[in-house]
Amino acid sequence: MLDAKNLTLHYGQSQILHGIDITATAGTVTCVMGNNGVGKTSLMNLLAGRHPRSGGTVTLDGRELGRINAQSMAQAGIGYVPQGRAIFPMLTVRENMETGFACLPRAERRIPDAIFDSFPVLAEMAHRRGGDLSGGQQQQLAIARALITKPRILLLDEPTEGIQPNIIAQIGRVIADLRDQGEMAIVLVEQFFDFAWDLGDSFLVLERGRAVMQGPKAGLKREDLHARLAGHTVA
Ligand SMILES: Nc1ncnc2c1ncn2[C@@H]1O[C@H](COP(=O)(O)OP(=O)(O)OP(=O)(O)O)[C@@H](O)[C@H]1O
Ligand SMILES: [Mg+2]
Repeated sequence: MLDAKNLTLHYGQSQILHGIDITATAGTVTCVMGNNGVGKTSLMNLLAGRHPRSGGTVTLDGRELGRINAQSMAQAGIGYVPQGRAIFPMLTVRENMETGFACLPRAERRIPDAIFDSFPVLAEMAHRRGGDLSGGQQQQLAIARALITKPRILLLDEPTEGIQPNIIAQIGRVIADLRDQGEMAIVLVEQFFDFAWDLGDSFLVLERGRAVMQGPKAGLKREDLHARLAGHTVA
């Protein structure tokens, strides 16, 4: 579905990504892993059209995309749950979700019941301000907001960061359900190893903007991936 090759990205003079390949396939979870500052968010920002690439190709459904921006990628079906959630603190929970309506045709601008089935707390708190929610509730809201756009590809940047275990488990179930429905391609940036290993179908490990380990889960050993992330070179 999404196939990006040889991606490079610079901030000014400094090169952050060095020739990254990544694919996202419907019904699967692609995990992007790596320690702090290796370029995971930069890669997501590139795929979401929020920062221009300096090289490489992005192909969506077999069509190579030239210049992309956040709006064109949202319209192409990319949903983005940014790191740190970026919800609007002064808007209500419902209003936060409704900001996702912008890229939907008018007739489709309603919040599907399935969103509240996934995250019942959002129905209970629909009229509260986003800023009054706990971190875990805000993360659920950020995911709900992205789902409202009916994305075909969902980018999630560290959804478990700073979140209590029961909500992590709930978010994990929602991701697994979306994957199992088979229509959405999910790209999950994650540093919580067990969470990523349980959900992931394929893995990409970054180190200083380079891919140092990559491939389908079937071809990887759990302990090798773990060691790689701990900074040990794997034979
Ligand atoms: N807007 C920016 N301008 C300049 N440098 C940046 C910018 N954003 C990130 N960087 C730098 O680029 C590198 C990669 O950052 P990035 O946020 O992509 O890493 P990350 O893997 O997502 O880290 P984390 O796990 O902490 O979220 C870091 O060295 C960071 O300091
Ligand atoms: Mg990041």
